[in-house]
Amino acid sequence: MSHKTFSLVFAAVTLSFIAYVAIIQEHSAYAVVVFPDFNFGAAGDWGCTPNATSTVKNMVEKGIELNLGLGDYSYKPSADCWLDIIKPIFNKTKISIGNGDGAAWPEYMNIFNLTRQYYSFDVQNVHFLAMSTQLQNESDKLDQLNFVRNDLNKTSSNPAKDWIVVYFHRQAYTSLLEGGEDRTDIIVRDTYHPLFDKYNVDIVLQAHNHNYQRSYPLNYNEVDPKNPIRVSNETNNYYSDLSGPIFVTVGTGGNGLYKFGVKNDYLVYQTYSSYGFLNVDVINNGTKLSAKFLSNNGTVADQFTIVKSH
Ligand SMILES: [Fe+2]
Repeated sequence: MSHKTFSLVFAAVTLSFIAYVAIIQEHSAYAVVVFPDFNFGAAGDWGCTPNATSTVKNMVEKGIELNLGLGDYSYKPSADCWLDIIKPIFNKTKISIGNGDGAAWPEYMNIFNLTRQYYSFDVQNVHFLAMSTQLQNESDKLDQLNFVRNDLNKTSSNPAKDWIVVYFHRQAYTSLLEGGEDRTDIIVRDTYHPLFDKYNVDIVLQAHNHNYQRSYPLNYNEVDPKNPIRVSNETNNYYSDLSGPIFVTVGTGGNGLYKFGVKNDYLVYQTYSSYGFLNVDVINNGTKLSAKFLSNNGTVADQFTIVKSH
């Protein structure tokens, strides 16, 4: 091939490639997006205990790609001992603040590179929103409310985001403890649950009670807020978009376990018998969440799935 012919062929191939890229870009809105499987874990109420070390080991063995911290970590004025324990998963960890983290919170913010106690981020088609149940002054609380409202509004109208997971420390819903103590955070329940309903939040993760509790999908009950309304009576497998979130308490990171009184009707399952974490696999091209409470003794203590189309 002469030099001239080669140059012409090269130019033709280059132009074809540019045209091809332009066509792909023009039609990219219609391209089929493929989401690889990924997973995330969540737990709160850790402590610097051998049980917390076991929870980290359990997470590492499961190969978690993201760890949502549900608050109450070292229970000490310094974060150091907990940071040592979570070293194998530190780079995968995104925290929310608990009431036991107050003294060390500036340290946590610094090391996790946070400027506020509430923030959001995406992994593929899943949106994660971390909230704070520890804000003290009214203007900070109002700022968070505005942030959450705008964030959820924007996300729920974004067709590229199929799932919304919200997490924080204190509970919107919980069974009473054995001695009758009610640890419900009324602000989270009455201010935020209506927003979670409105903007189609799928899962709400919380801690503070050192045990595991999983609700039915729930709508806020304006008439009787203590008794939220079941969206579905199915207990384990959900096959369509739900109009209210499933609330899961995962206060099983390692710092002691709390016994319940009776189980509230809006809960499918509760246990205080083992430490562990909630693992959620995002599978089937991002259309299915498969959640399991993996106890540190190797058993699957609870599981549920949600399927929805893009
Ligand atoms: Fe707490």
